[in-house]
Amino acid sequence: MKAFKTLDDMGDISGKAVLVREDLNVPMQNGIVSDDTRLRAAMPTVNELSDRGAKVLILAHFGRPKGQPSAELSLQQIAEPLSGVLGRPVRYIDWEGDAQAVASLRPGDIALLENTRFFGGEEKNDPAVVDRFAALGDLYVNDAFSAAHRAHASTEGLAHKLPSFAGRSMEKELDALQAALGAPVKPVAAVVGGAKVSTKLDVLNNLVTKVDHLIIGGGMANTFLAARGVDVGKSLCEHDLADTAEKIMDRADEAGCTIHLPYDVVVAKEFAANPASLRTCNVHEVAADEMILDVGPAAVEALADALKTCRTLVWNGPLGAFEIAPFDAATVALAKTAAALTKEGSLVSVAGGGDTVAALNHAGAAADFSFVSTAGGAFLEWMEGKALPGVAALMA
Ligand code: 3PG
Repeated sequence: MKAFKTLDDMGDISGKAVLVREDLNVPMQNGIVSDDTRLRAAMPTVNELSDRGAKVLILAHFGRPKGQPSAELSLQQIAEPLSGVLGRPVRYIDWEGDAQAVASLRPGDIALLENTRFFGGEEKNDPAVVDRFAALGDLYVNDAFSAAHRAHASTEGLAHKLPSFAGRSMEKELDALQAALGAPVKPVAAVVGGAKVSTKLDVLNNLVTKVDHLIIGGGMANTFLAARGVDVGKSLCEHDLADTAEKIMDRADEAGCTIHLPYDVVVAKEFAANPASLRTCNVHEVAADEMILDVGPAAVEALADALKTCRTLVWNGPLGAFEIAPFDAATVALAKTAAALTKEGSLVSVAGGGDTVAALNHAGAAADFSFVSTAGGAFLEWMEGKALPGVAALMA
């Protein structure tokens, strides 16, 4: 049995007004949605509720207006793209006269309410705003895992006010995350990449106690290498965090977690596509004017061998400076190995957070991962072992 209620527990909802929190915070370029992943993630829940005869009232935020309404951050511009993805009409409802507009909806209708953050009290979880939203609906569904790290009126407060349920995307996220770190099949590996250790300290400290193999990549690996006395030349490195890195390595030792750092690396004197100074060398041979920009091929092979011994993988962040070739090679190679192991059924692979989805898409590996989260900050907070307020409220 799940620790939270889902759409399966809602009973007969025909004619009921259901407030559904989605995350429609999509990237836009020149007025066009440039990545509709989050719109597609809303579809299963919204269409199911509509099919079951509910009046579907979508609540979402867009950008960070901090209580200041503006056309630029209006959700009106998302109604049409959302309608295109759902394959059904979506009626936009402004915060003026919304109660009358909602009252005129018929069973099965889908409406998108204006940006919740046009109310200053949304982000403060102000009870008056919770009441304002709750007055519009009979039931509440939270389908926005990627906004669940925010204790806002529409993500947390409402769950205590109305009978509340997890939407299909939320349910899928929670099931996948439970399988990855909650009760995973062991051995478990984690890949943590990215530029700075300082932004992922809590993630690393939590993971060393939970996983068997911690693969550190990106600029973060340089900080760990430097802490072990390696001269990393001009590489991105937080030298002042040497002590912190050492403590994390000590914690890992105590917990029986193997930390994997590259022993060969791809270096160059400048960060540019295929620079003349490009070479691969042992980590102990980085020159004073060189930068480490990717994990080397021998280390990638060793990482692939380690992955083959694992049954579960959690991935956050690229291994190298993957935006520019050839510094994407390690990320692409290891992502492909993970995808292949997942496809043959020997690995459960879960990825998420910021650049990760872009990196896995670039590698052509995302589709074969067991689960790729739509969340950025929420995924990281989950990897830090924190309770997410929006999720906790569904369990209450
Ligand atoms: C996101 O884009 O990660 C979520 O929608 C949360 O947005 P926020 O960081 O503005 O709260």
